[in-house]
Amino acid sequence: MPSRREILQCAGAAALLSLMPLSARSSKLRQIGSRLIPGTDESLPIIGLGNSQAFQSGDVEASSQLLDTFLIHGGAYVDVSGSSRYTVGKILADRGAQERSFLGNYLSGQNAAELRAEIGSLQEVQGEGPLDLSMMRSVDELAARADDFRALKGDGLVRYVGIGRAHKKFYPAMMKLIEDDVVDFIQVNYSMLEPEAAEKILPMALDKGVAVVINRPFMNGDYFGIVKGHELPAWASEFDCDSWAQFSLKYIVSHPAVICVLTETASLKHVVDNLGAGYGRLPDDKMRKRMFAHMQELL
Ligand SMILES: NC(=O)c1ccc[n+]([C@@H]2O[C@H](COP(=O)([O-])OP(=O)(O)OC[C@H]3O[C@@H](n4cnc5c(N)ncnc54)[C@H](OP(=O)(O)O)[C@@H]3O)[C@@H](O)[C@H]2O)c1
Repeated sequence: MPSRREILQCAGAAALLSLMPLSARSSKLRQIGSRLIPGTDESLPIIGLGNSQAFQSGDVEASSQLLDTFLIHGGAYVDVSGSSRYTVGKILADRGAQERSFLGNYLSGQNAAELRAEIGSLQEVQGEGPLDLSMMRSVDELAARADDFRALKGDGLVRYVGIGRAHKKFYPAMMKLIEDDVVDFIQVNYSMLEPEAAEKILPMALDKGVAVVINRPFMNGDYFGIVKGHELPAWASEFDCDSWAQFSLKYIVSHPAVICVLTETASLKHVVDNLGAGYGRLPDDKMRKRMFAHMQELL
């Protein structure tokens, strides 16, 4: 008898197929692309889900639909902060989906005791095991409390430690965290329109074996204002790209340091579109240069 996971995968493949243009179907009906977390044998699908407004507003029905659609189409990484950690955690636990999802939790405890209490309250909802990825938003705080986080990992309360920021002004301090072996993951902004991370921090992360997750793939929606009214170039089909959203996402995940890109949406149609970028071919170096130049022409 097929397992629930196999049934979901079949349902996901069928649903994905029904939403794809005919031309793309044959090449895309494979598994979603995934990347290894450096230094481990654990892999993550290359398209993730950001902290959606549906989660933030605590809308359980909308959040459930979003998460079901995301998981069925092969996604795993969900970025959650504040109350979303509980909303999403409970929905995944109710489905027994903890093992095939991966939560990026932001912690805010102000000292070691508060951090442990916060983790305990998250485990009550997300499940008893260690949290997948625990991040801080403040680079300075994480630097100051690096030993607390090492102890959390040592005690089996968290599996990975990370820092998440979305502006280039934080790159130098984030690089210091990499240098000092504080983080297993960094989350930064990177796209054709915000390419600065490719100069130093992404190569450094690649070199040091730190996993890179990308935020702001659409610059919180501004990207769509730039491409609006322009035809997707015909050559985008050479890397199985069907939409402007996929054009940005495929550019981002084809950077060798990147293991996953987060997209924020509350729309089921957009979740499927975004997950579609994880299927099929990715642009090579030459194509990436062409994509970048094309985007400059649209500015
Ligand atoms: N750690 C940090 O400091 C930090 C900072 C920023 C972001 N992040 C993380 O990164 C995630 C993503 O970054 P972001 O918030 O800047 O959002 P984003 O993904 O760059 O852009 C979201 C916008 O794009 C639209 N969109 C998404 N998919 C689309 C599609 N296929 N077609 C057309 N429009 C689409 C969404 O509208 P619809 O809702 O209508 O789809 C929304 O307006 C966040 O959710 C968060 O988890 C972290």
